[in-house]
Amino acid sequence: MAFALLDKLVKQKKLRFDEWRDLLSQVDSPSFEEAKKRAQALAREHFGLGIYLRGIVEFTNICRNECHYCGLQKSRRELVRYRLSQEEILSSCAAGHALGLRSFVLQGGEDPGLGDAWLTELITKLREHFPDSAITLSLGERSRESYAALFAAGARRYLLRHETASHALYRKLHSPAQSFYERLNCLYELKALGYQTGAGMLIGPPGQTLEHLAQDCAFIQAFQPEMLGTGPFIPHKATVYAKAEPGSVRLTLYVLSLCRLLLPELLLPATTALRTQKASGYTEGILHGCNVIMPNLTPPSAKKHYQLYDGKAGQKTLEQTLEDLQKQVTSIGYHLVFDRGDHPRFAKNCEKSP
Ligand code: 5AD
Repeated sequence: MAFALLDKLVKQKKLRFDEWRDLLSQVDSPSFEEAKKRAQALAREHFGLGIYLRGIVEFTNICRNECHYCGLQKSRRELVRYRLSQEEILSSCAAGHALGLRSFVLQGGEDPGLGDAWLTELITKLREHFPDSAITLSLGERSRESYAALFAAGARRYLLRHETASHALYRKLHSPAQSFYERLNCLYELKALGYQTGAGMLIGPPGQTLEHLAQDCAFIQAFQPEMLGTGPFIPHKATVYAKAEPGSVRLTLYVLSLCRLLLPELLLPATTALRTQKASGYTEGILHGCNVIMPNLTPPSAKKHYQLYDGKAGQKTLEQTLEDLQKQVTSIGYHLVFDRGDHPRFAKNCEKSP
């Protein structure tokens, strides 16, 4: 059969490791277009032509970790470090709220100064100011107690990319102090606590093979995240990977479409990294099954110090950005949706609660 593995994926939502590897290796075959066609149809079936928006506030670039690919790694002594005040975070969200956004992502490095008391106070204030909006956290690894406290304060979604599901590759890309198992454990804790949980991997970091990516797909299949953030690796000039090849846009698009086929209800952003690698990244991502875009709400004075990779897209004002996004998505027949955009499995329980 022409598309036997795609057929099996669509029907059973489950492939063996070797099948994932074989399907991934078909990135330059007609499977690429077929996966795109099917992923697009499936996303439309579940979400229509609407694209959800998440306003992201990158509120601290302080980080205890040493991810070799990331521009925020601890050893970069020359980088100006910042942590926004609660007032600055609230006013960044207010600017987004005024323009219709109802979903906010608070992202930062693994900042040791972020205590639970400060964070719960912040979440409480956000809940008071924007009771109609969803709050997503993306603060890296924390204890179960901390995740539970933040949930109790009203956070309901958490993004924690696994980065790679290969232990061997994880070891190459991170410092010895970082634990692959701890990262996976955090993901399972978040899920068990009731968060809508987001995982995700880099596409094409140095040393990654299709076997590694097949491990990512197998992990996603087992973990069943509600959200998935995945984009191409992009070298950062101040890291050891300054001269490395960036991840392939084509492979990224193919993986996005396969992830949509695996998890039809997945909240799947067309990432800024994809947009950075290709001007049409957002629309191409959508046509491969993505249903989320994350405009940046970080104040410009801070944003310039939050360069995870070189040439990070999005230097316009928020108003211009939203106008531009509106234009891009309407050019392919879609529209922006201004609401919380919960995962379908959570939408009913979340109407009145955080
Ligand atoms: N290229 C692409 N993505 C990167 N990230 C960090 N550094 C890079 C890079 N050089 C991603 C990681 C992290 C997310 C916030 O940004 O996957 O989880």
